[in-house]
Amino acid sequence: MMSLLEPGDEVLYPDPGFPGYASIALGLGAAPVPFELSARNHFQPDPAEVASKITPRTRMLITNSPGNPTGTVYTDAVQRALAELAVKHDLWVLSDEIYARIIYGGEYLSMLRYPGMHERTLIIDGFSKSFAMTGWRLGYTVAPPEVVPALMMMAVNSYTCVAEFTQYGAIDALRDREGNTQHMVGEFTRRREQIVHDLNRVPGFRCLPPEGAFYAWVDITGTGMSAEDLCRILLEDAGVAAIPGAAFGPFGKEFIRFSFASSMATLHEAVERIVKVSTTWHTTAAVR
Ligand SMILES: Cc1ncc(COP(=O)(O)O)c(C=O)c1O
Repeated sequence: MMSLLEPGDEVLYPDPGFPGYASIALGLGAAPVPFELSARNHFQPDPAEVASKITPRTRMLITNSPGNPTGTVYTDAVQRALAELAVKHDLWVLSDEIYARIIYGGEYLSMLRYPGMHERTLIIDGFSKSFAMTGWRLGYTVAPPEVVPALMMMAVNSYTCVAEFTQYGAIDALRDREGNTQHMVGEFTRRREQIVHDLNRVPGFRCLPPEGAFYAWVDITGTGMSAEDLCRILLEDAGVAAIPGAAFGPFGKEFIRFSFASSMATLHEAVERIVKVSTTWHTTAAVR
């Protein structure tokens, strides 16, 4: 984004979405313009809505499939329609594909595969999710050659180079001789099944299975409480951490997000504790 945006440029991004998209755009003096991922539309982007928000100032379209926080894997038709819009309006596409290896069925389709995308797409990816290297601070971009000098200048003048041990770790991770990522996705598949099933037992919670990534995105309208109050009770009374959905944008405000990157036993215990404290809102909701 630092390489491509000028002050006043408009950036289309998914809401709810990874908070960095809007805040980095704002930090660069650009204008973040959200498009909604709504439950009514199975959290898929609506290409007609995206089209309606394109103006002469729009310069970039951010996509994130599988997405944080909803776990949505964009359909082929949606991605094709977004790609057509990008070509028609000459937009850069910043495709955040950091969860590409963590999907629950089907074949992963990158934004790069659509006609006209090679010259306008930057894929961003990293090692923290697929290889459990969170905090090691290594990521990468696949970008058109004309963008590379700007990226180089930024890299050299910000972090200079990545620590050597991290680079060796990343080489081994990419070789993945023991099939660890696939094994981990198998484990996530079991955790997903368990946690989604368990969370739907909590009074007032509604949760659909995510198609990718490792987050449970829970509609909490049935609790009659705000996401912020609910997360406070979960943390203080149950010792369970969840994030209020509005942290991912205003369209997330009736949801909370859990990560299931923990053991099955921990996840089970977490939901048991939530069920125990759910009397707090269960009785209140019943009285209304
Ligand atoms: C969609 C998305 N993109 C990018 C990142 C950044 O990951 P990292 O800073 O660990 O490389 C995250 C982390 O949560 C994410 O969810």
